[in-house]
Amino acid sequence: MKLKSLVGRLPAEQDLSVKPRPYLNHSVELKKLFTAEERADMLEKVGLNVFFFPSEMITGCDLLSDSGVTTMTSEQWAALHLGDEAYGSNRGYFLLKDQIRASFGEAFFNEPGVGDSNAFIFHQGRASEDALFTQLGKLGVGQIIPSNGHFDTTGANIEANKMQAVNLFSEELLESDTNVRFKGNMNIRKLKALLEKSHDRIPLVYLTVTNNTAGGQPVSMANIKEVSQIVHGYGIPLFFDACRFAENAWFIRNYESGYKDKDVAIIVHEMFSHVDGFTISYKKDGLVNMGGGLFLRNNGLFTKKYPKMPGAIVGYQIIKEGHPTYGGLSGRDIMALVVGLRLVTRDEYLTYRINQVSEFGEEMHRQDIPVVRPVGGHAVYVDVNKFFHDTAMGPEDFGGVALCAILLAGYGHRACELGYFSFGHFDRETGKEVLPEVNFVRFAVPRLRYEKQDLDSVVAALKVLHECRKEVPGVQVTYGRELPLRHFKARFEFK
Ligand SMILES: Cc1ncc(COP(=O)(O)O)c(C=O)c1O
Repeated sequence: MKLKSLVGRLPAEQDLSVKPRPYLNHSVELKKLFTAEERADMLEKVGLNVFFFPSEMITGCDLLSDSGVTTMTSEQWAALHLGDEAYGSNRGYFLLKDQIRASFGEAFFNEPGVGDSNAFIFHQGRASEDALFTQLGKLGVGQIIPSNGHFDTTGANIEANKMQAVNLFSEELLESDTNVRFKGNMNIRKLKALLEKSHDRIPLVYLTVTNNTAGGQPVSMANIKEVSQIVHGYGIPLFFDACRFAENAWFIRNYESGYKDKDVAIIVHEMFSHVDGFTISYKKDGLVNMGGGLFLRNNGLFTKKYPKMPGAIVGYQIIKEGHPTYGGLSGRDIMALVVGLRLVTRDEYLTYRINQVSEFGEEMHRQDIPVVRPVGGHAVYVDVNKFFHDTAMGPEDFGGVALCAILLAGYGHRACELGYFSFGHFDRETGKEVLPEVNFVRFAVPRLRYEKQDLDSVVAALKVLHECRKEVPGVQVTYGRELPLRHFKARFEFK
């Protein structure tokens, strides 16, 4: 009998309950081991601010962020060696131009030296936000930038330029209905109401894909199209915050009708066909450790409406970052990015990646830990209010900060509070906290870094903490309560 027909009679490999990872370990790092007491001493020393906790002491999983912590592939490491560190027009710049056009559409990268630049490389996403909003801010005070959910640096860059960052989360976001797949959508009702009242104060509308501030939830193509039609109807440009564009496209392919037979790369093109520009941090779906950019559609609504903007942005880029052909990145970083952008839409990678995150969240759910479901693309979000609902934890006890501190000291896993402390602020006039709508602790999963066993150990630790939640005290802020972006700088102690 032929071996082929023999294997043809076995259950199909894709139907087996456990499948191999679609990648191999290329190199690994052995961790140093520390005790809970040693971690607790260190965490107290840094005022319970997990950002200041030395990463070398993290004996568990470091889920503080999925940003810039990707394990690069061997192809990317090889590409680093081909980096050309020329001051002007390095080799990678031309490859990046071709890759941006291939990934997002030809309109987003004009031929170098021909007409106005519309592609601006920056060292991080927030540097591209700074460049955009510094220039937009010059249009006048009191402008509003609405979004389905601004990331913290985006909101801060908008407000630093005397504009108002407004989040229009979907109604479904905090519903526990797990059949709603696109909870990251823009709230159309609220958008229409805001436009009707204040359209003349809105220079730009933003869509964050996927919506990091709103539980990492994806945005549907239908929502992208509808937002685009509405805002364009008012003559207002639409931009993406495009950090997780590939993960968002994967959700559209898998859960939105009409897309199941399309390649993710084709869906990405369709998504970007609706916008006039985008900012991006490549530290997510660029699969690299550093990089960002701002891209404007050639002859799009933005460049037509603000024709002086591209020239102003180039001028700003040169004094802040460097020549437009490297813009704050070394030649080798650009080479790794080109390869990362090519890899990220590969189905075997994306399917594994998103299923890993989903399974992590579903396991928490099975252990009664309240998480946002369905799970988003890059992280699992624990609902802090539900976690502590039957305890004495009050809003100003910052339960999310307390939970992160105990998890890190007790079990060596690092997560990030994205809730009442990070997104709230202290109002000096009333002496009270102004609380945001969402109160999460985020467990962001770095790309290609951890295995199931690692993530299972996080769930086991959280389960213990959930069971003894009534004994978890709140924290008080000892420094930085009134600062902007306070979560990066503040200090706390347990009450
Ligand atoms: C949605 C979103 N926008 C912007 C940024 C800022 O990017 P960067 O960290 O490269 O400045 C991030 C970073 O995590 C993000 O998640």
